[in-house]
Amino acid sequence: MEALLSERIEDFLSRNGGKKVVAVQGLGFVGAVMSLVCANGLTEDYAVIGVDLPTDEAIAKIEALNNGVFPISSSDPKVQEYFEKSRKKSNFLATHDTHAYAKADVIIIDINLDVDKVSCEENELESYDVSLDGFKKAIQTIGEVCKSDVLILVETTVPPGTCQFVVKPIIEEEFQKRGIEFEGYIGHSYERVMPGPKYIDSIQNFYRVYSGIDERSADRVESFLKTIIRTDEYPLTRLSQTHATEMAKVLENSFRAMNISFIQEWSNYAEEAGVNIYEVIQAIRMRPTHKNIMMPGLGVGGYCLTKDPLLASWSKQTLFESKNPLLNSEKAVQVNDQMPLRAFDIIRDNINGDLPNKEVLVLGVSYLNDVGDTRYTPVELLCRKLLRSETNLSLHDPYLNYWEELERPIETEFEKMLDRDYDMVVVSTAHSVYRSNDKLLDYITSRKNLFVLDCWGVFSAEELTLIKENNNIKVIGRGDI
Ligand SMILES: NC(=O)c1ccc[n+]([C@@H]2O[C@H](COP(=O)([O-])OP(=O)(O)OC[C@H]3O[C@@H](n4cnc5c(N)ncnc54)[C@H](O)[C@@H]3O)[C@@H](O)[C@H]2O)c1
Repeated sequence: MEALLSERIEDFLSRNGGKKVVAVQGLGFVGAVMSLVCANGLTEDYAVIGVDLPTDEAIAKIEALNNGVFPISSSDPKVQEYFEKSRKKSNFLATHDTHAYAKADVIIIDINLDVDKVSCEENELESYDVSLDGFKKAIQTIGEVCKSDVLILVETTVPPGTCQFVVKPIIEEEFQKRGIEFEGYIGHSYERVMPGPKYIDSIQNFYRVYSGIDERSADRVESFLKTIIRTDEYPLTRLSQTHATEMAKVLENSFRAMNISFIQEWSNYAEEAGVNIYEVIQAIRMRPTHKNIMMPGLGVGGYCLTKDPLLASWSKQTLFESKNPLLNSEKAVQVNDQMPLRAFDIIRDNINGDLPNKEVLVLGVSYLNDVGDTRYTPVELLCRKLLRSETNLSLHDPYLNYWEELERPIETEFEKMLDRDYDMVVVSTAHSVYRSNDKLLDYITSRKNLFVLDCWGVFSAEELTLIKENNNIKVIGRGDI
């Protein structure tokens, strides 16, 4: 079986004779799209092998990729375009065969590195831990077979210190076991990928930060990145050491997580004080130094902001043996994890606690607008609370037809949702389809005594006036309504 798999790689490479080989470890939201960007390089036409684990889920993804079905639903048309181009050129292969690493000139690490959170039913973070076991095993697998002059580029979000304290020693140890010297390069360059309408551009047409474990590694990373990223328009930023780029990534995300948790507190205050926080934010944004103050919403989800501040704090205490955690960053995660409880309280209070058997139309399940990703979506805690209160949920999301975490079907066609009677409508994700949507507005305004909760401010002032005529609407952060 292994021999057959390896034959497939050899066959793929002979069809791509002469091309430099890039192996991408991890075919998730980042790795699958990064593979496409490499397969459609700007100055170099690479042969790209995407490698994932031999698990059922990963094998399904690998088979889909090799059979012409891109496994991630995306609103960015460039994803499909790049995928089709790579299929025409036959320069992208997906596999779980680690033989790929033996053939690669560049290995990009795009695997997950999780934080294990222990939280109570209400999402209150009680403790957390980070295990590097899976990540170490992945590096070891590479070190066992890779070429001695390979570039190993870590893109996974790692606890600061990982390239120097974990990756380098494992690779050197594996080469020692093989009786050869490692003459390759190890670098770090984090992804700022946004899996939305600009999925490809967030990799190819955007600013990048990079470093190497030494100067020659940093030079090698730079020359590679220049072949896939439009660095003439988006110049690269080199930092002096891998600790620094690793810190930049988790600091960048902690900054965002903290800004969101901060506005959450003020959003609650605005509601109590009868103030429209949107109006306040617009006024403050006129000040150039305050342009990026966040808007209120249902909460924070996705794989990154919900864990990266904790990865940083874990690294501080574990890899750098500090006695003090990053208190503010940890607090931001705690606050954000619980944000959906606010939405639940608003719903409960507005229907006098009478939740059992109420019909609720939930508009949006994904954690982010115009993206099909339910990982750590804030909609989950809200829906779990509603289900525990014995409401009946009807779920809609244009990008998802099934919710793994709640094991529930999701309707993707909006019109199909509007032939039923609901007691409540909750706009839980700010997908573009919910904005200026006449059918949604017609449905709501044709009803009486419906309760609408707009968690993201998708309705315009005129729409709010129409809705208020016969129904009750609340908008998170709008104490004036
Ligand atoms: N999703 C985002 O928007 C985003 C943005 C920026 C950075 N990141 C970071 O990029 C990294 C990857 O994120 P993701 O969203 O793609 O995660 P993901 O969970 O979607 O994908 C990770 C993939 O790696 C595979 N994998 C795990 N161990 C492996 C191994 N040993 N060999 C081969 N494959 C292996 C998993 O099976 C999975 O398919 C994370 O560190 C994340 O924090 C993610």
